[in-house]
Order: sequence, then structure tokens, then C-alpha cells
Amino acid sequence: MARIALIGGDGIGPEVIGVAETVLAAAAAGHGLQVTLDRWDLSADRYLRSGVTITDAERERLTGEYDAALVGAFGDPRVPDNAHARDILLGLRFSADLYINFRPCRLLVPDLSPLRHPDPGTDIVFFRENTEGLYAGVGGSFKTGTGDEIATETSVNTRKGVERIVRAAFEHAARTGRGRVTLVDKSNVLRYEGGLWRRVFAEVGAEFPDIAREAVYVDAMAMDLVRRPQRYEVVVTSNLFGDILSDLGAQVTGGLGLAPSANLNPGTWALFEPVHGSAPDIAGRGTANPLAAVGCASLALSHLGLDEAAADVDECIAESIREGVTTPDLGGDSATGEVGEWMAARLSG
Ligand code: NAD
Ligand code: IPM
Ligand code: MN
Repeated sequence: MARIALIGGDGIGPEVIGVAETVLAAAAAGHGLQVTLDRWDLSADRYLRSGVTITDAERERLTGEYDAALVGAFGDPRVPDNAHARDILLGLRFSADLYINFRPCRLLVPDLSPLRHPDPGTDIVFFRENTEGLYAGVGGSFKTGTGDEIATETSVNTRKGVERIVRAAFEHAARTGRGRVTLVDKSNVLRYEGGLWRRVFAEVGAEFPDIAREAVYVDAMAMDLVRRPQRYEVVVTSNLFGDILSDLGAQVTGGLGLAPSANLNPGTWALFEPVHGSAPDIAGRGTANPLAAVGCASLALSHLGLDEAAADVDECIAESIREGVTTPDLGGDSATGEVGEWMAARLSG
């Protein structure tokens, strides 16, 4: 029996995870699957109430007793230093060594793109390194608050860390028949990390002679993802560049409301979360698009080997868009929960 923990988090997180829960339950019922869905309260509310972000015992139970977790988003204006997000989200990525942040951006319907001439074949997968780089927390602040203040943030890149994400990208390309892997970096300025990434990219890439490889600077990539996103198939990059470019990739294929992501270390516990954040500007209104969270439910089902149920959920997402059963960001007038109910009715029947 599969066990999935549901963690709404903050802002629109609980709203969209509520829909993912409805959809997961319906897909499980439709396929006669036993899937246990447990809600967990890890959030800014809890942190502000109790001072606790996540305990060691909770982290152990979450990763030990569940196959996966589905997370909404963390971020609350009442926690300006984002302490709870760092402990819970980054903490789980790091402690479970979830080194792959897999972020697919596929244009399901050309009308969803803000571009003038979208290519219906646009289908990019980002392999964002997820445990190192500028997210490693190496640095410090000296003479803080004085006129002489110094702040440093060091980008950590290990041979092992770079090699495993680059390999994951090439293996994915080989497995899914994608012809090219693009490395994105800033090696014209960041010489040390750039040197390591480029050498490893060439070495690992040489093991995949049928897959073309190219390297693009991150500034040019930001431009090219708007100019001709259809050109890119598999993109591998560092933690921060991946964070930024996956929002851009999401927007050219329909917006943050549609983009799911998976935090993976193959063969182990995994964490699924929309690319978007807690969207405090629309929280509580019932207008949040739940499709990114539903896309996460599909990725979680695939991760559990429940591929038919995952395919049904994917088809249901595409159908809701074609039928116009969408939230205002996609031009519809359905509420968050209504999209979920519409999907559940299709999936359980
Ligand atoms: P955001 O992704 O929350 O919102 C950016 C814009 O996109 C907003 O206008 C928002 O209304 C819109 N949007 C996002 N998701 C949407 C959805 N599902 N449906 C419709 N519209 C949607 O980014 P932000 O405003 O920069 O960040 C808000 C908070 O979320 C911050 O505290 C940030 O740190 C946090 N954050 C968390 C995660 C995460 O937990 N995975 C990811 C990104 C940002
Ligand atoms: C994301 C988010 C997180 C990140 C934040 C909330 C820590 O932006 O998942 O894309 O930067 O990784
Ligand atoms: Mn982000």
C-alpha cells in the first residue's frame, strides 16, 4: 500500500493541496488502488503558534514511514526571514539528499503561452541541482548592521554533486528519446564552478554519444527561453539558475499555476511541490490554480509505479484546460475547488 503525506504549508498551499488530495483519492478509487493520504501540519501558522518548524522525529517519520510527500508552498509575510521554509523545504531536500529537482514545462495548449507564435511542441525538462550551489548556506555576515558590514554567500559545487545531476539529465534524455542536453552556466565569469561543470558535462556526455550537448550562458538562456523555447529539451543547471529559469519556463508554457516539480534521489523517498510559491496576493480567494499541485500528484503516482493512474490524471489536466474548466489565470471562471470536483467526477467514474 502506498502512503503519501500531504503538507499544505502556507498561503494558497493548503488550497491547492486540498485539490491534489481530492484528485489522488479519486484516481486511486478509479484504479482500485490502496493509497493512504495523511495531512501534516507544517506551516508558518504552526511555527508562529509553537516556535516549531519541523522536529527531527517528524523528519524521520516523514521520510521513513511514507513513500512520498506532496507539499503546497512555504512563505508567509509574518515570517520575513523565511526560517520555516528553510527548515522544512530546504531542510528536507538537503537531509534526504534529494539532489534532482525535476521541473517539466510542457505547452499543453498553444493558447496558454503568452508568446505571439508559440510552438505547440514546446516541451522542456529542467534538471536543477538541488543540494549545493548558492543554496548550501555557506557564508556569513560580519560587522552586521554597521557601515563596514560584509556579507558573503559561497557557491558550493562538488565533483560528486555535479556529476550526479549531469548524469541524471543525460539518463533522462536517453530514456525518453530526447536528442539534446543543454548545460546552463555563467562560466565566462564564474570560472571555478564553471570549469568543473563544463568538464564534468563533457565527460559524462561522452558516455551518451547519441545525445547532442551544448552549453549556454544563463543570461543568453533567459533571452532564448522567450525567443525560441521549443529548441530546448533537457536543461541541466545549478540550484539558483534552475530556480530562476524554471519560473521562466513555466511562464512560457502557461504560467506558474501549471508547473509541477519533483525532488528526487532515485529509489528513495521523494518530495513533490508546485514550482510556484504561497502567492499571498491571492490566498484565501479560491482563485488559485490547482493544476500544478495536481501535476505533482501525477508525478507522485508515477514515482510509486502507478503509471496508469498518473496518465489518467495528466489526461484530466489537459481535458480541464480544453474544456475551459480553469481558474482565472488561465482565462476561466472556476474556483480552485470546482476544478478539483470536476476532475474527481471524471477520475472516479
Ligand atoms: P509566487 O509563486 O507565490 O507568486 C508569483 C505570482 O504568481 C503571484 O502573482 C501569484 O498570485 C501568482 N501565482 C502563483 N501561483 C499561482 C497559482 N497556483 N494560481 C494562480 N496564480 C499563481 O511567488 P512570490 O510572490 O515571489 O512568493 C510568495 C511566497 O512564496 C514567498 O514567501 C516565497 O519565498 C514563497 N515561495 C515558496 C515556494 C515553495 O515553497 N516551493 C516557491 C516559490 C516561492
Ligand atoms: C522553489 C522555491 C524555493 C527555492 C524557496 C521557497 C526556498 O522558490 O522551490 O522554487 O528557492 O528553491
Ligand atoms: Mn522558485
